[in-house]
Amino acid sequence: FFKQKEEQPLKNKRVMITAGPTREIIDPVRFLTNRSTGKMGYALAEVARDLGADVYLISGPVSLSPPSGVKVKYVQSAEDMYQAVMEKFSESDIVIKTAAVADYRPKLVHTEKMKKQEGDLIIEMERTRDILKTLGQEKTHQMLIGFAAETVNVAEYARKKLQKKQADIIVANNVKLDGAGFGSETNIISIFKKDGTQKDFDLMTKKAAAREILLEAAADLKKGEG
Ligand code: CTP
Ligand code: CA
Repeated sequence: FFKQKEEQPLKNKRVMITAGPTREIIDPVRFLTNRSTGKMGYALAEVARDLGADVYLISGPVSLSPPSGVKVKYVQSAEDMYQAVMEKFSESDIVIKTAAVADYRPKLVHTEKMKKQEGDLIIEMERTRDILKTLGQEKTHQMLIGFAAETVNVAEYARKKLQKKQADIIVANNVKLDGAGFGSETNIISIFKKDGTQKDFDLMTKKAAAREILLEAAADLKKGEG
């Protein structure tokens, strides 16, 4: 069977999606990560595919099966993700940065397992590269969609991220709200756009949220082309 054209607003569009957490190695048995499960990113990949897009999913370590018909590349660290994203950036039409990228990594990676000592341990950390910000600086024609998982001042932080990262859309959610947290099947999102508009949505499944985000992006692409 095939779908009608109006149901495939992303036909012939190349959509790159990053999902899940990153892992920053401390030593051969330890790493730093975060609570991202990849559900929102994988939902976006599935729905983008259904809307006709050619989907490339760059995934951190998660326990989900990737949607069929989607190209997947697995990465571990923020730096790995940076390299994978940059490699395919020029040939992407839309980039959606759902991944929860580590902001810091241990400055030293120990090649042997660290042994415990008396007293406290201090691990010195350095900043990772901001992938979305780099994309914002280097974009030519690509539409950039970022996420902002916040616990307070959601709208204010989302608008700041829109500006600082030169994104077209920031999807914000308050991860402290019931039904919007990590690992949940549902989300409560707000879409902030660079034209200053804000759209707040009620609680819905991550797939339904993905559909809202992608239809918004498709409509903006069409406006830009028209
Ligand atoms: N992001 C990224 N590279 C990083 C950190 C974040 O590409 N090194 C992206 C995320 O994938 C997300 C957006 O930037 O799409 C916002 O991430 P977030 O962690 O909310 O914002 P930060 O700029 O890292 O600020 P903070 O964590 O201090 O709120
Ligand atoms: Ca961050």
